[in-house]
Amino acid sequence: FMGHVVNVRDARFKKLTQADVEKFEAILPKQRVYVSADLGGSYDAKDLDAFNCDWLEKYKGHSQVVLFPTNAKEVSELLKYCNEQTIAVVPQGGNTCLVGGSVPVFDEVIISLSKMNQIRSLDKDSGALVCDAGCILENLDNYVAEFGLTMPIDLGAKGSCHIGGNVSTNAGGIRYIRYGSLHGSVLGLEVVLPDGTIINNLSTLRKDSTGYDLKQLFIGAEGTIGIVTGVSILAALLGANSYEDVKSTFRTARTHLCEILSAFEFWDAKCMDITADHFNMSKPLEGNYPFYVLIETSGSNNEHDSEKLNNFIELTMEEGLIQDGVLAQDKSQINKFWVMREGIPESLAKFGATYKYDISIPIAKLYDIVPDIKKRLTEAGVYSENESGTPNSKYPVKSVNGYGHIGDGNLHLNIVADKFDDNVTKHLEPYIYEWVENVAGSISAEHGLGIMKPDCLKYTKGPEMIHNMKVIKNLFDPNGIMNPYKFLPAN
Ligand code: FAD
Ligand code: MLT
Ligand code: ZN
Repeated sequence: FMGHVVNVRDARFKKLTQADVEKFEAILPKQRVYVSADLGGSYDAKDLDAFNCDWLEKYKGHSQVVLFPTNAKEVSELLKYCNEQTIAVVPQGGNTCLVGGSVPVFDEVIISLSKMNQIRSLDKDSGALVCDAGCILENLDNYVAEFGLTMPIDLGAKGSCHIGGNVSTNAGGIRYIRYGSLHGSVLGLEVVLPDGTIINNLSTLRKDSTGYDLKQLFIGAEGTIGIVTGVSILAALLGANSYEDVKSTFRTARTHLCEILSAFEFWDAKCMDITADHFNMSKPLEGNYPFYVLIETSGSNNEHDSEKLNNFIELTMEEGLIQDGVLAQDKSQINKFWVMREGIPESLAKFGATYKYDISIPIAKLYDIVPDIKKRLTEAGVYSENESGTPNSKYPVKSVNGYGHIGDGNLHLNIVADKFDDNVTKHLEPYIYEWVENVAGSISAEHGLGIMKPDCLKYTKGPEMIHNMKVIKNLFDPNGIMNPYKFLPAN
């Protein structure tokens, strides 16, 4: 046939022996090690054809062994041994590859992920799904559909292909136009490197601006640099219906506005007061409320969009989720709303010395940290507010504010003090970073690490990740001349 033909087996690779089979059977239970009869096993060549032969029946190898690990640790032990013994392997998902990537060329050992197929978790708020690499795409789609969610990828092979195979081929498919590339929707990966190292980067954060994005290397790597064992992916929300407050409104917005929803921002009363004062602007709503939400839609039909948004406001007011709402009547009013939202950082910075914490936190707990910090600062004697939430100006901390990008699970926690002062800082750090670590958040959702956070990276990234980031850094910049002292911790 046409195409790249390899005629010569690489002599470096060990030919399997009985001892290797015994080792595999020591790592995995015997029933998860398929060995061909010519190597003393109970499977004949025909039994192994399903693994040796590709979907197009175009390519056929003759592997004598198929291994079925069920977890990352087993994959790690298998790879470590193969690496030490120079035994070549081929990772195999659903074997629907159309370019012959998933079958052995000669006698490479097949590591099939098909028995590693458990769903690990689903965050119904954000739509983040964490699952084993060997889950079949159609099963995942059916599973998330029960919660009104949809997988961001779909393709004709969905009944057989694995999510790990989709990731490894960077598959596109028929939902790509709407949901884009897996480079965007894959939130995290668990990967086993050839030497057996397990890299656990199963983040479920939508935003995480803490450094080199190692997972991207494995998206489309086609099993050439490691085996993907776990995937965390964003399922686009299309419909779940139960919420309270801002959170409920967010969910309703995603349900009712779905494809036209282009922004969902929120801020609290304190941000509103300080910003309205700073710009000397009247507040857009008559009453005062603890939270404000700015929703923007961008569909292709203006009339249709505003009808939908009007219906949405009516509905959320009827349900008591929103106390008041106003739809911008023209471009200048839209601009006014955005000036208000986008003017928050500037207004706070003018108000006093602003301690900024740009954190990713699961949507369910997003605002919890704000009252928690107020309480902590009050107990420390550096902040005080009266019953209606007005801060006492005699204390060093002037306000504790929360605002941000709810849809992205990204809170901006800002503490404004009369000056930057160790006596305030010590109550905030490392407490906030630890808080974020405890909810598996990110200490930098979108602002990066700079000179502020190299030593805080450890709260979001494990030592293996940091080590590898340093290796990459040294590879590109061995003399360390580029933007020194920042980004990565010194030790
Ligand atoms: P496999 O075929 O088993 O493997 C594919 C490659 O990934 C191999 O190199 C393999 O070694 C590696 N691999 C698999 N799992 C892992 C893992 N866990 N870790 C590391 N490496 C791994 N593709 C598109 O992009 N868009 C389409 O619309 C599309 N439609 C298709 C329709 C049909 C009917 C078929 C048969 C295929 C289609 N494909 C399409 C091809 C596409 O690449 C696969 O269907 C799918 O993404 C592969 O997943 P799989 O689990 O079958 O992987
Ligand atoms: C914002 O969302 O307003 C920006 O990230 C800046 C900030 O956090 O203050
Ligand atoms: Zn922001």
